[in-house]
Order: sequence, then structure tokens, then C-alpha cells
Amino acid sequence: MEPKFYHFTEHGDPRGKLAAVEPGKDIPFPIGRVYYLYEVGPDQRRGFHAHKKLEQVLLCVHGSCKVLLDDGREKCTVTLDSPTLGLYVGNAMWREMFDFSPGAVLLVLASEPYTEADYIRNYEDFLNYINHREEQA
Ligand code: TYD
Repeated sequence: MEPKFYHFTEHGDPRGKLAAVEPGKDIPFPIGRVYYLYEVGPDQRRGFHAHKKLEQVLLCVHGSCKVLLDDGREKCTVTLDSPTLGLYVGNAMWREMFDFSPGAVLLVLASEPYTEADYIRNYEDFLNYINHREEQA
């Protein structure tokens, strides 16, 4: 599976750097929520879920981390190590985030507000969901 990335323009000058993310221009969906993971220990793994509808773009605004993506058939692991690199995570995609560097901050731009009913938190349920969805298509 080929991960989909977005590259945000770096505006740098002697004062420092700035990057902007505009919905509809830099990412394809309206932003319904922003959240961020921080102070994640080096041995911690986060995520372990998929979403039925939610779309997200993940970017490490400081430090680095890795993201495992699993569509139920194929897996890939990507490293997010730049504040201008966004990883698209669509719906029906199992994800795990790990290998956070000290002080890393993972920013998540999400298409919808938090809705627990949109989560699939069990891997077997996720595989069933994928297979059921494909049978119906
Ligand atoms: P959780 O989904 O377990 O985080 P991760 O994806 O990193 O494993 O969420 C941790 C807690 O935060 C859980 O109690 C739900 C809460 N939470 C919100 O209240 N709003 C949010 O937008 C998110 C993502 C989580």
C-alpha cells in the first residue's frame, strides 16, 4: 500500500519558520477537530483503531514518530519527521503510532468532531468490517 502524503509550504526567513494548512487547499477535507499527542514515552504505542468515516492528516510538528497503516490486506510503516510533511489516513484504516522521539508532538487534523461510535477498536472487528464492506460493494 502506498501512503498518501501532503507537503506543506515552508515559509522561512531569519525570524524562523512557519507552515500553514488550509482545508480545501492543502488537505482535502474541512477540519472538524484538531488534537495532538505529546509526552508520549519512547516505548509507548498509541492508536490501535480504525474509523468508519473519519479522515485525518497526521504531522509531527516537533520531533518524529512512526505510523503503521494497515488496510486489512497490506501494511506499511512511515516516519513522520518534518513539520511540513502530512500523512493522510483515510477511513477503514487501522493505525498505530510509535517510536516517538523525546518531546515529539503529533498533530492530528480530523474531518469530524470526536465520536466514539465511529471507532473500531478491535482488530478482528476491523477485519470483519473491511470484508463486510467489500462484499456489499
Ligand atoms: P484514544 O483514542 O485512546 O487515543 P489514541 O488514539 O492515541 O490511542 O484517546 C485517549 C482518550 O482521549 C480517550 O479517553 C478519548 C479521549 N479523546 C477525546 O476526548 N477527544 C479526542 O478527540 C480524542 C482523539 C480522544
